[in-house]
Amino acid sequence: MLKIIQVTDLHLTPPGIQHVGCDPRQRLDAAIASINAEHADADLVVITGDLAALGQATAYQQLRECLVELRLPFRLCLGNGDHRARFRAAFPDVPADESGFVQSTVQIDGQHLIFLDTLAADGSHSGELCDARLSWLKHRLDEIGAAPVLLFLHHPPFPIGIPLLDSLALKSPERLASVLAGRNIRHMFFGHLHRAIAGSWNGIPFSVLRSTVSQFSLRLGVDPAARCLEAPFYAIALVSPESVVVHFHDYTYEGPVFEYSPVPAVIVDDESIAYTFQQANAS
Ligand SMILES: [Fe+2]
Repeated sequence: MLKIIQVTDLHLTPPGIQHVGCDPRQRLDAAIASINAEHADADLVVITGDLAALGQATAYQQLRECLVELRLPFRLCLGNGDHRARFRAAFPDVPADESGFVQSTVQIDGQHLIFLDTLAADGSHSGELCDARLSWLKHRLDEIGAAPVLLFLHHPPFPIGIPLLDSLALKSPERLASVLAGRNIRHMFFGHLHRAIAGSWNGIPFSVLRSTVSQFSLRLGVDPAARCLEAPFYAIALVSPESVVVHFHDYTYEGPVFEYSPVPAVIVDDESIAYTFQQANAS
């Protein structure tokens, strides 16, 4: 069983600068502490882009400091909030392809993980996979052949029903669809949307999770978009030969937790006993 942690959209800022009403550094520190405490057996942590809010070098320095505390191996993807050159200057050992894009692969437990770089050359908030990046992907998929692939990238290549976010999706999605057609892609993991969403695209299952900072409100079909401070998540993906299971973890939750045992069938069968049982367990 492969266990992968996904964290996304850190939006780190220079020290002391908040982002939409919260401290990105504090939120990431809390996520890393939670991962170390609860999921130290994971194989890998993947952070799927928008590492920085506006790509400053000091934000990447923040990230370096945070990741020192993480007790697991990690991979980093870039998003539209990132600046590739400043990121690579801060993380010179992070793997990149022959063109300098932050793209790489790793094989763990029979699964091939591919990490893509969708940061647009013109710095726009929409995603981009240019000829060089798509060619790199095609060659990696050719090498992998029929083996299963898990794909990590920041920008989803499809609309999700929130107009602003749909305008900022991956450009020319049909080109990515063409490269992925007929391949054994088991799951796609995205960032960018600051919401928990699951579904499929051209038959490929996908999941997206909340940011460690602010979220986009669920305003389907409505402009303008709005941000909110729904709780941050990270995700835990459990990957076996038969299944990919993605849990979303509300890691800052501090409310009550109740031990639970299933209600015996005899109580459900007898309505009078069921009533008495509910009264006894109401609080
Ligand atoms: Fe973001």
